[in-house]
Amino acid sequence: MTQWLAEGGIDPFPPGDLDNPDRLLLPEKLYGREAEIVSLLNAHDRVTTTGRPELVMICGFSGIGKSSIVNEMHRALIPSRGLFASGKFDPQKRDIPYATVAHAFQGLIRSFLSRNNAELERWRATLQEAIGSQGHLVVELMPELKLIVGEQQPPPDLPPQQAQQAFQIALRRFVGVFATAEHPLTLFLDDLHWADVASLDLLEDLVTHSELRHLLVIGAYREMEIDPAHPLVRKLEVIQSAGLKIDEIRLAPLTRKNFEAFVVDALHCAHDRAIPLARILHDKTAGNPFFLKQFLSALDDEGLVAFDLTEGNWSWNPDHLRGRKYTENVVDLMVGKLAKLPAETQAALQQLACLGTTATTAMLSTVLSISEARVQEILWEAVRRDFIERIDDSYRFIHDRVQEAAYSQIPQERCAETHLRIGRLLVLRTPTAQREEAIFDIVNHLNRGAALIFSEEERNELAGLNLIAGKRARVSTAYLQAFKYFTAGASFLTDNAWTDHHELAFALEFYRAECEFLLGDMDAADKRLNFLSLKATYRLELARVARLRIELYTTLDQCDKAVAICIGYLRHLGVNWSPHPTRSQVKREYGKIWKKIGKRTVEKLVALPLMSDAGSLATLDVLTAIFPSALFTDANLLALAICRSVNLSLEQGHGDGSCVAYVFFAKIAGLQFNDYKAGFQFANLGYDLVIKHRFDRFRARTYMWFAQFSLMWTEHVHASRALFMRAFEAATEVGDLPVTVYCCDNLNTNFLAAGDPLAEAEQQAERGLQLAERARYDHIIDIMKVQRGVIRSLRGLTYEFGRFDDRQVSVTCHG
Ligand SMILES: Nc1ncnc2c1ncn2[C@@H]1O[C@H](COP(=O)(O)OP(=O)(O)OP(=O)(O)O)[C@@H](O)[C@H]1O
Ligand SMILES: [Mg+2]
Repeated sequence: MTQWLAEGGIDPFPPGDLDNPDRLLLPEKLYGREAEIVSLLNAHDRVTTTGRPELVMICGFSGIGKSSIVNEMHRALIPSRGLFASGKFDPQKRDIPYATVAHAFQGLIRSFLSRNNAELERWRATLQEAIGSQGHLVVELMPELKLIVGEQQPPPDLPPQQAQQAFQIALRRFVGVFATAEHPLTLFLDDLHWADVASLDLLEDLVTHSELRHLLVIGAYREMEIDPAHPLVRKLEVIQSAGLKIDEIRLAPLTRKNFEAFVVDALHCAHDRAIPLARILHDKTAGNPFFLKQFLSALDDEGLVAFDLTEGNWSWNPDHLRGRKYTENVVDLMVGKLAKLPAETQAALQQLACLGTTATTAMLSTVLSISEARVQEILWEAVRRDFIERIDDSYRFIHDRVQEAAYSQIPQERCAETHLRIGRLLVLRTPTAQREEAIFDIVNHLNRGAALIFSEEERNELAGLNLIAGKRARVSTAYLQAFKYFTAGASFLTDNAWTDHHELAFALEFYRAECEFLLGDMDAADKRLNFLSLKATYRLELARVARLRIELYTTLDQCDKAVAICIGYLRHLGVNWSPHPTRSQVKREYGKIWKKIGKRTVEKLVALPLMSDAGSLATLDVLTAIFPSALFTDANLLALAICRSVNLSLEQGHGDGSCVAYVFFAKIAGLQFNDYKAGFQFANLGYDLVIKHRFDRFRARTYMWFAQFSLMWTEHVHASRALFMRAFEAATEVGDLPVTVYCCDNLNTNFLAAGDPLAEAEQQAERGLQLAERARYDHIIDIMKVQRGVIRSLRGLTYEFGRFDDRQVSVTCHG
């Protein structure tokens, strides 16, 4: 204007060149992290070209920029074909199994929904194949997936140890669908210091299983939150000892130079002017970019750094800044900043902090008892000041530290009350049909407020809700979380509950014992089951306790105790067995089978109805559970238990356990009664039934024992080989780890017996041995080492014929 007035014209100039906003706008850009971002991109390139999965761990202080560098890497990857899934662990959601992993893939799935039909159809087919019989559980975890693969069959009722394997295998295959040479997958798991144990197990499973290719997992965690006993540390050790090299990126504080560049961009000033200010900021914040941003904006709020309208630039007084106290604790700093917001905005932020890092406007409106429009009005100031951001229909804290600060503003004594209120509102607001889906949120809030629930009725109700939550966590095989819910549930009950709410009290204790068993706390499980055996009143309860105790003792290799439990259970039913029955007792039971069959042929029995009587099913479960122990304690007892299971099935119809009894029957009919034909017919019956009724629980075992006890002796050796292979596949799908290994053992024998080329037999033996070593089945490892030794000896690869050791292998077997 001055030039115009003086000279009647203006020289050309680039528009906006001297614009200097009078509001502090902090740069979004990252400073000084080029090398780290390149090393992430290099890892991605390696995964793309070699296909070998990699794990990169990023660690450093809170606010140092861990999440930011991965976001930056993601931006750089967008033009490539790579897929990116990311999820962040949340301390408030620690008890929700796999919530983070599910969240990561939900985002990915959503991005697929917009693809064309032909493409979606292709994805549908591959995804469906991957999730197989576990589809229901995977869809429950990621409901969006239903939009692609549709409704899923209910999952097979598998024993819990198998369920965990099966679920992890399905998840691994699911991940494998996304991770391919065509489009490698980057999975970012942020804030792993808050990860639950089940998710850490999954992480291990993903990176250590060689069949998963083209997968880059990036994990980030705060070093300060981790001590050597932290589950993450142990998990990383396990992963490393499995042979995977973990790349570590340790983020150091930013340098003074980085701060100078930041100040130049933030305050639009010359570099010379920025140097002294950058030095002060660097000294105060120890080079932490999050602290830097917060501190600078606090200085702006307080007017210690201010825009000078006359000069058109930012100014400050270095002495005042040096004198300004800087709190080391960023939460205190944030609390100070939050305290300047209007009271109602602060109150709303506190409720949001209770709900988690994010919540929908609708939820906030319920919790605050105000309209959604009013929620928006109240929160506007917090959005404007960058405490939270609005994404679609939700509000989210821009950083965990802001949430922590808002949460810490709630007076200690009000915390429980707030959670209780939110929990009760959620119960009221959630229709019963949807309660299961929202169960974790509901229960987590109510449990935190439980100290303020005094009515016995409401405490019983809460125990019931914890039972639902625990069962849901159990189904997704997150046994530690499940255990916490069952334990919390039990703690809300009084002694009266054993009479007034017997089923609830029993269920909570029973599942606690089961979780203890699955989590390896055998002593605790043993004690609890002993206690429960005294509390069990109905036959079904007795059977459930007996079955679990048998499994426990079988696992502990205490076969005599397992047998004693089975016999004790039968005594309750009025059946008196000795652990060492007589031969004539077995003969009598065997004879009954043929009397019951009468003129019918064994093949015709396939048409018998299914067993529906719950008591008989429970007894069948107890009887079949004893086979593995009886195999070692007494041949008559094994025969008696098998024959009784067959008789029970002939009386009441087929249960899935009947199939196991029928294939086992082949073992005793032939060896003990010289009736190989009948044995073969029964084994065939078991096999047909598994297929006809899609009995998944014992499918793999039925196939394997059919091949082992029957087919191998009656048909060409190749027929049993095909069935062992099918058993192996079925066992892999349903997570029956022992059976995968036993199948390999059987296959080794089979290759040798069939006279296959020895090189192929050796390959087969090698594969089996690797599997057994991974599963740490010592006794099978020993057998397999011998099998491999025989093959290598026959091939002339050992020092001399008949010796198993050579340059490559030195044979040591477990004592
Ligand atoms: N190199 C950088 N340059 C400038 N700003 C940065 C840099 N790194 C991080 N920031 C900023 O600092 C803030 C915190 O970064 P970020 O959330 O990535 O930290 P973090 O290490 O993941 O912390 P936490 O452990 O708390 O999750 C973000 O607002 C980000 O924009
Ligand atoms: Mg982070």
